[in-house]
Amino acid sequence: MCGIIGFTGKKAARDIILNGLERLEYRGYDSAGVALLEDGKISVKKRTGKVAELKGLCQSEENTATCGIGHTRWATHGGVTDANAHPHRCGQVVLIHNGIIENYRELVREYSLQDKLVSETDSEVVAALLDTFYEGDPIKAIKKTIKALSGAFALCIMFQDIPGKIFAIRNVSPMIATSCADGSIIASDLTAVVEFSKEYFVVPEYHILTLTEDGIDVMDMKGNEVKPEILSVNWDVASAQKGGYPFFMLKEIYEQPDAIRNTVSPRVSNGLPDFTTDGIDDEVFKNCKRVVVVACGTAMHAGMVGKHVIEDKLRVPVQVEIASEFRYKNPIIDEETLTIVLSQSGETIDTLEALKLAKANGSKVISIVNVKGSTIARESDYVLYTHAGPEIAVASTKAYTVQVAAMYLIACKMGLVKGILEESEARQFMTKLINAPNIIEETLENANNIKRVANHIKMAPDAFFIGRGLDYTMSLEAALKLKEISYVHAEAYAAGELKHGTIALITENVPVIALATQEDVYGKVISNIREVKARGAYVVLVSMDDEVNDPAICDKHIKLPKLDKEFTAFANAVVLQLIAYYTSEAKGLDVDKPRNLAKSVTVE
Ligand code: G6P
Repeated sequence: MCGIIGFTGKKAARDIILNGLERLEYRGYDSAGVALLEDGKISVKKRTGKVAELKGLCQSEENTATCGIGHTRWATHGGVTDANAHPHRCGQVVLIHNGIIENYRELVREYSLQDKLVSETDSEVVAALLDTFYEGDPIKAIKKTIKALSGAFALCIMFQDIPGKIFAIRNVSPMIATSCADGSIIASDLTAVVEFSKEYFVVPEYHILTLTEDGIDVMDMKGNEVKPEILSVNWDVASAQKGGYPFFMLKEIYEQPDAIRNTVSPRVSNGLPDFTTDGIDDEVFKNCKRVVVVACGTAMHAGMVGKHVIEDKLRVPVQVEIASEFRYKNPIIDEETLTIVLSQSGETIDTLEALKLAKANGSKVISIVNVKGSTIARESDYVLYTHAGPEIAVASTKAYTVQVAAMYLIACKMGLVKGILEESEARQFMTKLINAPNIIEETLENANNIKRVANHIKMAPDAFFIGRGLDYTMSLEAALKLKEISYVHAEAYAAGELKHGTIALITENVPVIALATQEDVYGKVISNIREVKARGAYVVLVSMDDEVNDPAICDKHIKLPKLDKEFTAFANAVVLQLIAYYTSEAKGLDVDKPRNLAKSVTVE
């Protein structure tokens, strides 16, 4: 959460920072600010609202400073006010922060900082502490300050009397940096730097960076120079732009076929799953007796889809855990448990801590991660990178379907290695997985029909998604998606469970989106649909039937291509994403930046 960026170089910094902040805005958009250092002075502009409003505020200012830092905030400590917006200034020091300083209250007391503070934030306390320790030597002051902090932080700091330099340090919270012909740039993630350089490095934890127009010095806390590993980006700046779509979310929905192709094809050899280039040993699958999947939000729902396939096809038990719960449990995990961690960003703090706990309990960890070099990827025993490209919309779409595809690859590989699946069965399974992008393309052709459903849902305060088996799992993700971007209160229910309480909420015209794609329980779901229809619900049936014109069953039918039961997940996902997208759009909301949310959740 929170996006941070710093630039120092041979060009004017203001617009580089503001444009970078726009790209980072999905990390938080409660307020934004920029600080520019020139001629021994630092000017700070900050305000509540989105980066576009900050841009307006800055337009009249001179644009000659070549060194500056900027921040887009997702509020944790202190409300959404101008004073709480970053950068924070104290004396000679101006800084931006992403993370949470857990001991900020103690620091205020211990170092008598209260008189220096004008905001309610934990971040300003770091500025005040730095100012207290600063006597002309920035490195000394930073070291002393960092020793006093506990919590997660990514900090970019400027000192008013040190021209052209940005200092940075992090613990847990992400930060990457690069230098190029124009200067040096540091940011929370790649989207902000990719137009300057295809090469970057992950800022090592507890190392002090000094950025100048000529390059970046990295030194450990003992003062030794360090050369971090240089990584390269495998996508270009166009991938992080809307490309003619009104919102990133719609673009990303349409990118799903390619994202799945890019994720699956490199891992197929002779028609079978092959993880050789990922370096994942067969032994990992051979030795595991059970699987624990840990993730948050949409990524966790992708794990739940994987559970269906692994349990159904392989009869290996899979437990799916919410990372924020798992990390405070005493988990039942041992050397025979394989932990699969899913994370688009690779930075979600609860997922990261859950991963560490699983490892500490002797489990091997495979992570399914989209962002190369991210913390979760680095902490895992094995990584299966998804190749979805940058996902900018806060609501996850393409990252979800590639995670599902990755879970299916793992299921197939595990089945083969354990001798549970015959080669011929595995080949058939893989043929269907390779066909998943075509399923999505076919489903996307139905977009206009799906859009009409949104016009009904947008009027409703509540909506329900029902289904059985895999359809119930898909419903959980559908309800989350609808809630997060359209603010329609939505719940998912196992269709057979409705009558134990929730059916009391079904009245005239309440939208019920019913998924009936699982052949073995199709008849049962239809009976449950009749029950809600009889109580006046507005039913949208999603099924593989050719046509359903029975008003006792549904008001609207969305037809899916004919698919085997586990592969309906790909078609269902697209339908449900589009329902949420079009509902949000029809309500005139900012689809990509829903209120109160952020894409990368790096605080607990
Ligand atoms: C946030 C995002 C979700 C995402 C979840 C987990 O809540 O808004 O879209 O599913 O975090 O993120 P991760 O990066 O770990 O997949």
